Amino acid sequence: MSGMRITLGQLKAFEAVARLGSFSRAAEELHVTQPAVSKKVRLLQEEVGLTVVEHVGKRLYLTAAGRELLTTCGDWLETWSRFEQSIADLKGLKKGRLGLAVVTTGKYFMPRVLGSFCDLYPGIDISMQVLNRDRLVERLTRNSDDLYIMGAPPDGLEIESERLMENPLVVLAPALHPWTNRRCIPFAELADVAFVMREQGSGTRMAVEREFQERGLPLRVKLELGSNEAIKQAVAGGLGLSILSRSMVRLDTTEPELVELDVQGFPIRRYWYVVWPGGKQLSVVARTFLIFLRENAGLLAGFAGSPRPATETTANPVG
Ligand code: PGA
Repeated sequence: MSGMRITLGQLKAFEAVARLGSFSRAAEELHVTQPAVSKKVRLLQEEVGLTVVEHVGKRLYLTAAGRELLTTCGDWLETWSRFEQSIADLKGLKKGRLGLAVVTTGKYFMPRVLGSFCDLYPGIDISMQVLNRDRLVERLTRNSDDLYIMGAPPDGLEIESERLMENPLVVLAPALHPWTNRRCIPFAELADVAFVMREQGSGTRMAVEREFQERGLPLRVKLELGSNEAIKQAVAGGLGLSILSRSMVRLDTTEPELVELDVQGFPIRRYWYVVWPGGKQLSVVARTFLIFLRENAGLLAGFAGSPRPATETTANPVG
């Protein structure tokens, strides 16, 4: 063992391949080319003297040696990157990489938030994964990122979360819809409406289903789409009404074909949260970002089209 000359870069490449089950996804995450990842894993295998990953058909599997190596890497890589960031911080550099994962709807305002953050900390690089809620929860369970931005932190997982700003859900209709001039439309009338809704697994969908269920009303989904933009187009095109985050329309002044209907019980009050695994020791960069989020509640609310910031902490203060 003592004779092995394995580099940190090789271990990082191997760990990413093992976790993501794919060379190309590992390359994407590490911001290098796929051949560079393959080469690192090949060199590592040569040092270990055994195959660590193998292809069976199109799938990638860890061999017994690979599993042993992954267990050995354990949290060590994360510990190491925290060390690197602490050293950078001690040098007064505030540099490093921030790994964020954001629910689909969050992609409308998070890039703007990150723009302001990067202005302050030009040395910090960011990787932002955009996924629906279910896939985000999977990543959270695997501790794949530093911080998570979502609308509904999961129950039953050991996590910490802080409420950021409001995320109201509204009923959207095409501008020429006959209900646009009605006031206080009874919620029960929505039971007769054909909806264009986000897919199962989306946080928006989950919140809407819960609301209908609590009122004992059926939700008729005529068309299911995995993209908020596609839903807006479908609503504008007269395919049905939808219920989406207000941030979808507030930021989009170029879309006058859509209007928000005045339905009783709406907007459904929800919030954005920043979440991380319970007990996780946040990196210096992640702590810096968390403090930035806390200190810029008004800015966040503006970007997300929320009426006002909503800062209620459910976690121990960090940093
Ligand atoms: P979604 O989540 O993009 O998966 O719908 C958004 C939310 O939970 O508000």
